[in-house]
Parts: sequence; structure tokens; C-alpha cells
Amino acid sequence: MTMFDTIKQIFDNEHFTSEPHQLYDPIEYTLHLGGKRIRPFLLMTANRMFGGEDSQVRNAAIGIEVFHNFTLLHDDLMDKSPIRRGQPTVYRKWDENTAVLSGDTMFALAWRYFLAQPSPRLQEILYCFNQTAIEVCEGQQYDMNFEQSDHVTIDDYMMMIRLKTAVLLAGALKIGALYAGAPEADIEHLYQFGIHLGLAFQLQDDLLDSYGDVAEFGKQTGQDIRDNKKTYLILKALQTAPQPLRDELAALFSSTPADSDAKVTRVRQIYDHLGIRQDVEEAIAQQFRQAQQHLDSIRLETPLKAPLQTLMATLSGRKK
Ligand code: IPE
Ligand code: IPE
Ligand code: MG
Ligand code: MG
Ligand code: MG
Repeated sequence: MTMFDTIKQIFDNEHFTSEPHQLYDPIEYTLHLGGKRIRPFLLMTANRMFGGEDSQVRNAAIGIEVFHNFTLLHDDLMDKSPIRRGQPTVYRKWDENTAVLSGDTMFALAWRYFLAQPSPRLQEILYCFNQTAIEVCEGQQYDMNFEQSDHVTIDDYMMMIRLKTAVLLAGALKIGALYAGAPEADIEHLYQFGIHLGLAFQLQDDLLDSYGDVAEFGKQTGQDIRDNKKTYLILKALQTAPQPLRDELAALFSSTPADSDAKVTRVRQIYDHLGIRQDVEEAIAQQFRQAQQHLDSIRLETPLKAPLQTLMATLSGRKK
């Protein structure tokens, strides 16, 4: 059985139904819509790499995925996203208050799962989880702030995606390694591996938002353009576009026209003209290279690192 099969089995057997059902139904719905389950994969893989047993981290693996799904409920409300994993988002299927309160409950449930997973290093694990959660919220706030700003640099963007996305992948790895009692120096390389993997992952997400196939991606494409999100794509385009194209782009990204489809079409046309796709692909490849260096630095036999190596290869061609 592969690690993803193990994780599938864990979630197939875990239910989140309770009363009042108006609070719990959206939680059960979200956690059984699938999703790639990358964060539990990272947590459980790190634990296995350093000799841990799956039973030592089962609850923690559920906890990290519940936390991730909490961020999605609130994120979809903040981003006005209609679909996720090919299905209506919670605030659309129910309403906004439901997305807020079910999301809040998921954050608390995530804590409950972690507290139910004993470890001599639980204090350190909970500290890491807490710090990660704070940083994700900081990243989400920068993401929102940047919608309103026309002074965002690529460095600002990288800082923002490190917080909103990369620290959770890195934190999942670190927590798994802490449960297995891994040495400090290896944990640090594992964490940095997760950071660069996470940066690549969000760059890809931004690329797929503009260029992905809706059916495969499971989310509405063009959403970042509609929301005036300061992604790598627009920032690079603003850097490379000649006048008057640059002014046109800047104007498009500081407006919310009624005909948002026309805006998306035009922005994509400009991206194509400037070859932005290739620029993003190069930035992604650079992050994967840095991730690789940290993976290589972990003092374990190469076969033990194979699952992370394979994950990187799979993610590098991802379409969803
Ligand atoms: C979505 O995460 C949010 C981002 C960080 C881009 P995933 O792409 O891991 O979402 P699921 O869980 O697989 O649906
Ligand atoms: C994901 O950013 C970050 C978090 C959910 C914390 P996005 O807003 O790009 O994620 P998607 O594209 O909606 O999944
Ligand atoms: Mg979003
Ligand atoms: Mg968002
Ligand atoms: Mg996105």
C-alpha cells in the first residue's frame, strides 16, 4: 500500500459529523471532497524517514489536513472563489457565516487532533503548529493587502507566499520529523526543503490559475486576475512590458470591471505576448533546485529520501 493509499484509508474512516449539523456538515463535506493530501503525506513521510511508525502520527496527520482545509474555507470567502475540488465552495453551498464558523471549528479540531497524539516532544510540536498557523494568517493578510497596492515587488510576493503557503508544507515535515525524534540539523534541512517545495507549489498554483484546465484544476481559472492578486505572473509582466502595455496592465489590475471575463482574456493575451509562462516555469524550476539541495543535505541513506524525491517529480508536472 502506498503512503497515499494509507492516507486515503485514514480519511475514509474518519468522520466529522455531529450536532448541530449545520456546523459539522460543511466540515464533513470539505474533508471528503478529496484534495491531494500533500500535507499529511509530508508529515507521515518525514516521520517514516526517521524511523517512526504511522500509528505515532495518525492524529497529527489528520490535524494538519483539517487545519489546511480550515484555511481553504476562509480563503474561498476572502477570494470569492465559487468552486474547489470541482465542487461548490462552502460559502456558496451554504453561506458566508457558515464558512466562518465551520472554519473556526476546524481550527479548534486541528488542535484536538494534535493534542491526541502524544510525544515526548509535544511542546515543540505544538509550538511549531502554532507558529505556522500565525504565519499562514500573516501571509493571507499580505495577500489581501497586495490586492489594493500597486507597489508590490517580486520579493514582497515571495515573502507573502512563503507565509501563506510554504510554511505549512515545511511545518508538516518538521512536525513529522519531531514525532520520530529526528536530529536538529536534519530537521532544519527538511524544513528548508519544505519551504522551497512550498514556494514552487504556490508559483505553480498561480500559473495554473491563469493557464490550468478548469476540469482538472478543480477551481475557477482567472480568479487571481479577477481579484487583482499580485501574483508572480502580473509582477513579472509589469516588469517586462513596454509602454503603453504596462499602463494598460496596471489599469486592468486596479479595476474590477463588470465584464471580468473580458479582463481575464485580455490579461492572458498580454501574458502570452510577453512569454510570462516561461518566466514562471523558470522560477518554479529554481525553487525545485533549491529544494533538491536541502534534500541532498539530509544525512540519511538515499532510499529513505525516495518518497520525497518522487513527490517532487510528481508535483513538478502537476495539473491540479
Ligand atoms: C490549495 O492547496 C491552497 C494552496 C496552497 C495553493 P492544495 O492545492 O494542496 O489543495 P488540495 O488540498 O489539494 O485541494
Ligand atoms: C492559498 O492561496 C493560501 C491559503 C489557502 C492559505 P490561494 O488563494 O492561491 O489558494 P487557492 O488557489 O484558492 O487554492
Ligand atoms: Mg484562493
Ligand atoms: Mg487566497
Ligand atoms: Mg490560487
